[in-house]
Amino acid sequence: MKNRYIDLIVQTFDWPVFDLSLDKDELLVYGIKVSDIVERFGSPLKVFYLPKIRGQIDMARTLFAYAMNKLDYKGTYTFCYCTKSSHFSFVLDQVLAMEGHLETSSAFDMYLIKSLFDNKKLPKDRFILCNGYKVEEYKKMISDFLNAGFDNVVPILDNMDEIDYYNAHVEQSFTLGLRIAAEEEPNFSFYTSRLGIRYKDLKSFYLQKIRPNKKANLKMLHFFINTGIRDTAYYWNELNKCIQVYCDLWEVCETLDSLDIGGGFPVANSLNFEFDYEYMVYEILSVIKARCDDRGVPVPNIFTEFGSYTVAESAFNIFTVLGEKDQNDAERWYMVNGSFINSMPDVWAIDQRYILLAANNWENEYQRVNLGGLTCDSMDYYNSEAHLNQIFLPKLSRGKNLHLIFLNTGAYQESLSGYGGIKHCLIPASKILLIDQVDGDYSYQVFREAQRPQGMLEILGY
Ligand SMILES: Cc1ncc(COP(=O)(O)O)c(C=O)c1O
Repeated sequence: MKNRYIDLIVQTFDWPVFDLSLDKDELLVYGIKVSDIVERFGSPLKVFYLPKIRGQIDMARTLFAYAMNKLDYKGTYTFCYCTKSSHFSFVLDQVLAMEGHLETSSAFDMYLIKSLFDNKKLPKDRFILCNGYKVEEYKKMISDFLNAGFDNVVPILDNMDEIDYYNAHVEQSFTLGLRIAAEEEPNFSFYTSRLGIRYKDLKSFYLQKIRPNKKANLKMLHFFINTGIRDTAYYWNELNKCIQVYCDLWEVCETLDSLDIGGGFPVANSLNFEFDYEYMVYEILSVIKARCDDRGVPVPNIFTEFGSYTVAESAFNIFTVLGEKDQNDAERWYMVNGSFINSMPDVWAIDQRYILLAANNWENEYQRVNLGGLTCDSMDYYNSEAHLNQIFLPKLSRGKNLHLIFLNTGAYQESLSGYGGIKHCLIPASKILLIDQVDGDYSYQVFREAQRPQGMLEILGY
């Protein structure tokens, strides 16, 4: 029986996988040998491969264009990136260079928008969809942008009082959106999302507070399903309800012309991951078209706010195994030079799984292990995969480090753990490396060095 790591992977998955390949017993990601990256830039490391962001945006546009064409869908598609998935400037730079539009969630997000505009990266006519339950500063920033002529800044009302602020502070006519409070999945802790306005209130709210208003024009209905865009009865049911509300509103509102179907496009968490993006986009548009045709309503222009989909697959984390510990006959630990809680908090918070592979030593025999992080928290571990309730990695070789790679870690991890700042057990944030590739030429840029003690001590008041 073959029990080398390479045989395990090749027999378990359809290998090679797009973007991943092997050179002898070394893993290459996007054509780059991972151990070469470690040799040049060290470990632990977080790497962003920027062409992937551009590729994802391209793919979304292609899928919508293809489906719209096939369905003879007489509406447009607008790609927006939701900044909360990763606020890093290098991510936003890619999105804006691809002429992407943006979705914001907070007052500070608006400062980010201002900085992009001041630095001439953001043309004034890009859509900025402003979501979230808004504090005064957020509403003020939105109003200031509108008053400064950013006509495509669109506040998406989260509740019925929000309009009062814009009425009082925006000086000219402006467009707005309404967020539907979606019903949650049956096994969730709540029946209805706390975000948005209830289905049954939307039309009367429009008629009573928006239509009589001289300045506000309703442009968009916004709908976001917490569990993401999935081929489930729940998703189709919510989408259908949303389209009925769109049609109800359209019948009384001549300015309504757009539907924002939110984010939630899934991301591969295993080499076995399967999701038919093309089918899903086609089905969503065909459902929207069918329902609108039934009601004699023109189809809406479609907006999306894909966060994870845009940025998750662009990044990977590299760790190195520091040593092995056998704690009893069955439990063997590989201790890594970082922390899962600090670097990939979703692992700990929502049991998120990523694609985990050894970066080298593929010819070695494999063994079952648990991965241990450097903090003293008993929950700082990783020991299962999306497709399997355990993990197998190459046995360690004397004198040769084993490097590990976690793929598709680009979304939300720094938003949740914070980048820099104080970390559990003061384990520092890793260095961030950016890799770009244009016409086969790779370029490397250290975005930020690993966190140093002084910065943390200052925050702590030492
Ligand atoms: C309103 C809204 N839009 C878009 C997104 C992005 O979702 P995802 O990263 O799953 O695409 C979120 C995520 O929470 C959201 O709340």
